[in-house]
Amino acid sequence: MCQTCPARCWRSGTRTRCCAVLPLPDESADAALALHMLYHAADIPKAIAELARVLKPRGLLIASTNSTRDKIALDQFWSRAAADVLGIPEGPRRVSLSSRFSLEAAPALLGASFTDLAVRELPGVIELTDPAPAVAHLASYEAWADQLGVPPHETLQRAGEIITAEVDRHGSFRIGCLGGILTGRPLHRD
Ligand SMILES: C[S@@+](CC[C@H](N)C(=O)[O-])C[C@H]1O[C@@H](n2cnc3c(N)ncnc32)[C@H](O)[C@@H]1O
Repeated sequence: MCQTCPARCWRSGTRTRCCAVLPLPDESADAALALHMLYHAADIPKAIAELARVLKPRGLLIASTNSTRDKIALDQFWSRAAADVLGIPEGPRRVSLSSRFSLEAAPALLGASFTDLAVRELPGVIELTDPAPAVAHLASYEAWADQLGVPPHETLQRAGEIITAEVDRHGSFRIGCLGGILTGRPLHRD
């Protein structure tokens, strides 16, 4: 975890280090986990090179992230709400944090420092009969309000109305999810 994290997770009191400078010697770790976090790194190639640096030559990297196709239903609710609030036909997209290191982009980014790359897709479906968890998820993006291009509170309220109407009409709604795990071993260093 890192003090640059907009969500300020570091306030939990957990010991924190930035992934750009890991407190480990070269070639010292058997394995490294980078689970749903590389997309937060200010300099993603540097963070990836740092993971490769600390891994032993046959060490294992396990990273995870989301596909660009993850939770599209929530993106659509948000865009519809933003369009209504702004009074325009099509509202701005929701901030996509993981698109900086998406499942589709990750192999090329990791390939600069890792070999033997494998990708395992993890598809799923969330079916909700209560709008609250979806609204809470959208609300968690408040930390990035300055990037939303739309008034966050009004948009969130409108999104809640749209999602509630969807539940009232159909009894539930489904959110298709697509995440994935990537594994790799550090490229040989001369
Ligand atoms: C989506 S959460 C994932 C948390 C956990 N890895 C998991 O899979 O449940 C993203 C995490 O990345 C951390 N983070 C953000 N920027 C970071 C950075 N520069 N270096 C290290 N961790 C960072 C945040 O503090 C947060 O804990």
